[in-house]
Amino acid sequence: MLTGKTIVLGVTGGIAAFKAASLCSKLVQKGADVHVIMTESAKQFITELTFQSLSKNPVYSDTFDERDPSVVSHIHLADEADLVLIAPATANMIAKMAHGLADDMLSTTLLATEAPVMIAPAMNVHMYAHPAVQANMRLLESRGVMMIEPGEGLLACGYVGKGRLEEPETIVQVVERFFAARNESVQGQGLLRGKKVIVTSGGTVERIDPVRYITNDSSGKMGFAIAKAAKDMGAEVHVVYGHTDVEPPSDVDAVKVQSAEDMYRAVLEHWEDSDLVIKAAAVADYRPKVTAASKMKKSGDTMTLELVKTVDILEELGKTKTKQFLIGFAAETNDVEKYAQDKLKRKNADLIVANDVTAEGAGFRSDTNIVQVYDAGGLVEQMPVMTKDEVARRLLTIAAARMNGALS
Ligand code: CTP
Repeated sequence: MLTGKTIVLGVTGGIAAFKAASLCSKLVQKGADVHVIMTESAKQFITELTFQSLSKNPVYSDTFDERDPSVVSHIHLADEADLVLIAPATANMIAKMAHGLADDMLSTTLLATEAPVMIAPAMNVHMYAHPAVQANMRLLESRGVMMIEPGEGLLACGYVGKGRLEEPETIVQVVERFFAARNESVQGQGLLRGKKVIVTSGGTVERIDPVRYITNDSSGKMGFAIAKAAKDMGAEVHVVYGHTDVEPPSDVDAVKVQSAEDMYRAVLEHWEDSDLVIKAAAVADYRPKVTAASKMKKSGDTMTLELVKTVDILEELGKTKTKQFLIGFAAETNDVEKYAQDKLKRKNADLIVANDVTAEGAGFRSDTNIVQVYDAGGLVEQMPVMTKDEVARRLLTIAAARMNGALS
C-alpha cells in the first residue's frame, strides 16, 4: 500500500517519541521510504541510531549538517515528501507550525514543503486542553493540516485523560487510507466530466406556525460529501438543501429550501437536463395540513396536529425520468434489505443506498457511514465503515460506471 511513497517522519520531544520507532518500522514494512527528522528534544528520549537502523536512511536533526553538497537537505526532503507526518507532535512544535517559526530542521522543512502534513499530537491532558494549543490546532486544520487526535488513557505524567499518542497501528491505517483516498480521487478525476448532477441534502422543515416546525436529525454531511466528490470528478453540481448542521461546499451551486414542496420545486429547475440525481435528503413524509399564519396559542390539555402526506420527490422523479440516473437513500432501523428493495421498485430508482442508522459508525450526525448499495438485482456492494467522503467517492464511481454502460 505504501510502496513508492516517501514519508518524512518528524519526531519531536515527548515521552511518546519511543512509539515513533514502532511507527517508523511499520511504515517501512508497508513499503514506504521513511526519512526521519528529529528535534533536539526528541534525542533526549530516543537516539538517531534507532531510526537510522529502522528506516535504513540517514536521520536529520541539524539544519546545518549538510551531508550531500549537491542538495540543501531541508529543501530536498521537503520537495521529495509525499507526506510529512509528525508523531509525536508536542505543543511546542504545534505552536511553531501555527506561527510559521523555522528554528530547527523539522520546522524549517515544514515551512518549505508543499506536501500534505499530518500530525499526531501527544502531551499532558491539561496542555492538550489549553486554549492556546487548541487554537493552534484549529488554525493548522483550517490550513489543511490533518490531525490524528490523541487517545484517552493513563498518561506518562500520571494523569488520566486525552493526550496519549494514537497507537502506531492506527496511525499507519490513517496514512494508508489517506493515500488510498488520494489515489481514488486521482483515478476518479473526470469520471463525471460534462455531467449535470443534482444532490439533495439535509432535512426538510415543515412549518406548524412562524416559530415551530417539524424536522429530523439529518446533518447534511452525506449529501454535501457527495456534492463535493461529484464536483471533484468534474460534474456541474447543483445542491438543494434543507436544515443542516454544516455548510454546503463553497464551490458548488447551492440553494437552501425549507419544505418538501420547496425542495421538489428547486429540484425541478434543473431536472430535465440533469444526468444524475442523488436524493440524500431526509424529506419529511408528512407536513401540517395547515400552517398557522401567527404563533399558535396554548388552549386545552391536548392538541391534535393534522398531518398530510408531502410530495414524494424521488417517486415523482422516478415517474418522469428519461435519461437520468436516480439514486435514493434509505435510512432504516430494521429489515434494511427488504425496505431498500421496496423503495427501489416503488420509486423507480437505479440504486438505493441503505444504512442501518442504529449501527455504530453509521447514521445521521456521524462523520462515518456503513452503507449497502442495491440495484434491482440485489446487493451491489456492502461498504465497510468509511468516512462520508469515502462513501461519496465510491458511490459516484459505481454510478459513473453504470451511466457509461459498465457494471461495477
Ligand atoms: N424521499 C423523497 N420524498 C419524500 C420522502 C422520501 O424524495 N417525501 C426520498 C428520500 O430523499 C430518499 C428516499 O426517498 O432518497 C427514501 O426515503 P425514506 O424516507 O427512507 O422513504 P419513504 O418512502 O419515506 O419510506 P419510510 O419513511 O416509510 O421508510
